[in-house]
Amino acid sequence: MLNIVLFGPPGAGKGTQSERLIDHYGLVHLSTGDVFRANIKGETELGKLAKQYMDQGKLVPDEVTINMLRAEVLKHESPKGFIFDGFPRTSAQAEALDHFLNELNTGIQIMVSLEVEEDELRERLKKRAEVSGRVDDADPEVIQKRIDVYHAETAPVKTFYQNQQKFVAINGVGTIDEITHRIYTAVDSRN
Ligand code: AP5
Ligand code: MG
Repeated sequence: MLNIVLFGPPGAGKGTQSERLIDHYGLVHLSTGDVFRANIKGETELGKLAKQYMDQGKLVPDEVTINMLRAEVLKHESPKGFIFDGFPRTSAQAEALDHFLNELNTGIQIMVSLEVEEDELRERLKKRAEVSGRVDDADPEVIQKRIDVYHAETAPVKTFYQNQQKFVAINGVGTIDEITHRIYTAVDSRN
């Protein structure tokens, strides 16, 4: 299996690049943000809980997120691999993912970290707010909170993968095509 963690701050291009990578490598795209939003739309209990955090730009609690992620992985019978988009976002999530994949006799091959400066992130999300309908894009204060949470709680996850020699930083500024090709080069060198 080829399992990729696609990492980066809000607006870095994780979703955009995941779409390219799933076609190219035949992988399953697993975005925890997308799963939460589908649950909010479906008005499930999980959706009601997640919404309280997401609308404020805070992380959904680890236990809830980890259990949800496990259930999503197990829905797929003999997949070629996964792109984890927006997961893991805390050290506890990274450790849980390792244990879980270990039980399935697999693991993460590479963590691709899209590096984009804050001004550019704010610009992208402000622009997307016009079309996305996402509550967490609509308010600049919530956008800032998401970026702050990324620095405080999520960026340390890089160290977890650096210690396993799986971390690769990719310049996330440029055309979407350019960035896709940077990622292909990084993944192919590990695969
Ligand atoms: P999530 O849905 O993961 O949102 P996010 O991390 O804030 O990131 P985005 O989806 O906004 O950005 P992206 O990196 O996917 O960029 P995109 O490709 O869309 O999470 C939302 C919330 O859910 C969290 O705040 C949290 O509450 C909760 N949650 C999710 N996962 C969780 C977890 N593991 N634990 C706890 N809570 C969790 O691109 C952004 C925009 O830029 C688009 O408009 C795109 O068209 C544009 N763009 C893309 N690439 C380029 C480029 N190269 N040049 C110019 N524009 C570009
Ligand atoms: Mg996304």
